[in-house]
Amino acid sequence: MKAGEKFVLGSIAAILVFSVARSLLHVKQDHERDIPYYSTASREVAERANEIYRANGCKECHSLWTMKDMMESVPAPILDGIGSIRDEAWLYGYLSSENPQSILPSRLKKEYRMPSYAGLPQEDRRVLAEYLASLKVKDWYLEQTRKAEYEKLTGKEYKK
Ligand code: HEC
Repeated sequence: MKAGEKFVLGSIAAILVFSVARSLLHVKQDHERDIPYYSTASREVAERANEIYRANGCKECHSLWTMKDMMESVPAPILDGIGSIRDEAWLYGYLSSENPQSILPSRLKKEYRMPSYAGLPQEDRRVLAEYLASLKVKDWYLEQTRKAEYEKLTGKEYKK
């Protein structure tokens, strides 16, 4: 497999994991566990990032636990927990790319694809990348998601 292909597969897997995680969340919520997503960002970074996030329409496409009033209809990846699979340098590079589809290819119609944010002030891209990198998903939740997915796909009991 070429590195590019691995990357694409990895991204698809990541998106799948988060979609499943999200649907499970509704069930799990009423039970003993708390919300599996958390951020390690300082309050200042979180507030600045949230402002930039709103001002630039990210929430028109992406959903984020902390901002629940988004439209659900656009098939963009959910960004909760994104910092558990992408680091800050990657996120900064992605947001700074003139052509984000050269990094993450898209099968969506043009109007639904990730736009280029290369034109944003450098500091805004930096804060966004720092904040996104701070969004983590708890290990037990990833594990639970893997288990559910495995059992759904194979019909067998999942063992570690
Ligand atoms: C028009 C819809 C749209 C808008 C607006 C948008 N995105 Fe995206 N974004 C997408 C889509 C769709 C993808 C998946 C790649 C693709 O199809 O281009 C994506 C991918 C991403 C990814 C990579 C996710 C992964 O799996 O690694 C990040 C991070 C991201 N967007 C952050 C942002 C941020 C931050 C903003 C605002 C500054 C933003 N997006 C605005 C649609 C959008």
